Amino acid sequence: MFEMSAMALPTDKKELYQVLCEQARGLLEGEHDLIARAANFAALVYHGVPDLNWAGFYLLKNGELVVGPFQGKPACVRIAIGKGVCGTAAKTGQTQLVPNVHEFPGHIACDSASNSEIVVPLMLRGELFGVWDVDSPTLNRLDAVDQAGMEALAEIFMSEL
Ligand code: SME
Repeated sequence: MFEMSAMALPTDKKELYQVLCEQARGLLEGEHDLIARAANFAALVYHGVPDLNWAGFYLLKNGELVVGPFQGKPACVRIAIGKGVCGTAAKTGQTQLVPNVHEFPGHIACDSASNSEIVVPLMLRGELFGVWDVDSPTLNRLDAVDQAGMEALAEIFMSEL
């Protein structure tokens, strides 16, 4: 059975993401249930990456994004494609790295504590499936290393679906 490492996670960000990717593979291996995978994945990232106040999924349902499994405070339930950071990632198919959410036109403030954000689009067999969203209460907290790490984690999540 998977157990979160009792050892301290690395402080070096690249190393941290490597360890989290290994842990995500172990946690998700052989489990194909979407909600089970998404819930455990959100918990792994939320508790593994320092200084996050929200980590979770918005999944595409009937043409809009609907909140899925997450860790953090209750969030906006539905987001239109093209709206906010999540809707922009969904519309463009490109990861949105936002060091200061207050400078992002149309940012949707679900939790007023959020100051920086990364949203990774999730694709399944060439079609939009949803987005993976992480928020930090710290301005400029999230950078290109976090983007690469979140993209790698999201790719692991989407495998075996
Ligand atoms: N800030 C996001 C909304 C989702 S919450 O951060 C959980 C956005 O602008 O799309």
